[in-house]
Amino acid sequence: MKRIIIEKSPPLKGSVRVSGAKNSALPILAATLLSSGTCRLEDVPDLNDVKIISEVLEILGAKVEKIGKEEVEINASDIRAYEAPYELMNKMRASFLVMGPLLARLGRAKIAMPGGCAIGSRPIDLHLKGFKALGAEIIMEEGFVEAKADKLVGNEIYLDFPSVGATQNILMVASLAEGETILQNAAMEPEITDLANYINKMGGDIRGAGTSTIRIKGVNSLNGVNHQIIPDRIEAGTYMVGAAITKGDIMIENVLSNHIKPVIAKLNEIGAEVLEYENSIRVIGDRELKGVDIKTLPYPGFPTDMQSQFMTLLSVANGKSTVEETVFENRFMHVDELIKMGANIVTNDRKAIINGVNGLKGAKVKATDLRAGASLILAGLIADGVTEISDIYHIDRGYSNIEEKILNLGGKIYRRN
Ligand code: UD1
Repeated sequence: MKRIIIEKSPPLKGSVRVSGAKNSALPILAATLLSSGTCRLEDVPDLNDVKIISEVLEILGAKVEKIGKEEVEINASDIRAYEAPYELMNKMRASFLVMGPLLARLGRAKIAMPGGCAIGSRPIDLHLKGFKALGAEIIMEEGFVEAKADKLVGNEIYLDFPSVGATQNILMVASLAEGETILQNAAMEPEITDLANYINKMGGDIRGAGTSTIRIKGVNSLNGVNHQIIPDRIEAGTYMVGAAITKGDIMIENVLSNHIKPVIAKLNEIGAEVLEYENSIRVIGDRELKGVDIKTLPYPGFPTDMQSQFMTLLSVANGKSTVEETVFENRFMHVDELIKMGANIVTNDRKAIINGVNGLKGAKVKATDLRAGASLILAGLIADGVTEISDIYHIDRGYSNIEEKILNLGGKIYRRN
């Protein structure tokens, strides 16, 4: 089984370029199904999750051509299949994002229940609520969900929770529906705005993306366009924590600091120095680290996708910290692994209390999900001895060239097959 090995490393120093955002690339790749023209996407990160959704698109009948390492051209003029296979859907929850575009283009979509990281129950009721509101009939079978509609008509939809995926699916399906859809309590993540910008470029009419009320006027068809994916704010945040925890000095290039204000604020509070430039951020970790309280929230709150990386940082900060996870119900699986490495963390339901320790020690640990894997790499960089991480396929789903990037910063990391 493949493993990542990390040895105690010197402070990380130098610069690192952040890739395009996984969580923006996946919905935008799904949205190429809405158009019968050719779309060219730039800054598409070279990740397993991107490969999976590309395979789904191909199975549905789209032509997907990789132009360069991070550029893809897609033509979905000939999609006919409305069913996405279980083998691929089961690998990644975000594959469910093809349901909205398929329903919009073909009036029918049948999808296996999605897989992905095992963080909580992650239901799809809000996605289905949106499809139903636009006139689709929903059929649930063993392991499958199907949506059918002769005609989709815009409607008012209130989301009980600002789900990122549900907001994206509704934006996509409503873009080709008749009339106007008003989506209330929509997710406000930058990846929603990127998707809306992309659909608008194709000829769509979406207003208010990035706020909690989004108005989508349906159009008859969407054209092929070129689009560049926004930078990955979670990858950027992970390297920022890398600078703070190793007491290093890293310039993070290709990052929009507006997208990661809560991460910057918490790093400042913990004691790292954060300098913001137009498209880059420098983090210097030369001061004492202090414990803080963190609560994850939908955007613009503190991102749940940065929770585990900060947990590692707080494990070695002075004093007591608390971390409350409000977005997912089961996102503390990294805690047991950090405890194996010497961290002092006690959890109670969705709250963790962390008492800072002087240092961590290398151990054999498991990446229980994508961001948990990143938190263990960060721990390994400062732990005495050697850390060996298994189940690294989770990490490959979401971090592009992570070993190479950390090696370039002076970290001691390699992969063992
Ligand atoms: C997306 C991100 C993921 C991130 C998450 C929250 C992608 C590909 N993934 O996931 O990295 O951690 O946003 O920022 O962009 N929920 C329901 N009903 C639904 C849908 C969701 O109850 O129909 C609940 C989920 O169980 C979860 C919460 O809402 O507790 C957040 O889920 P959601 O915002 O939908 O996350 P994803 O789109 O799956």
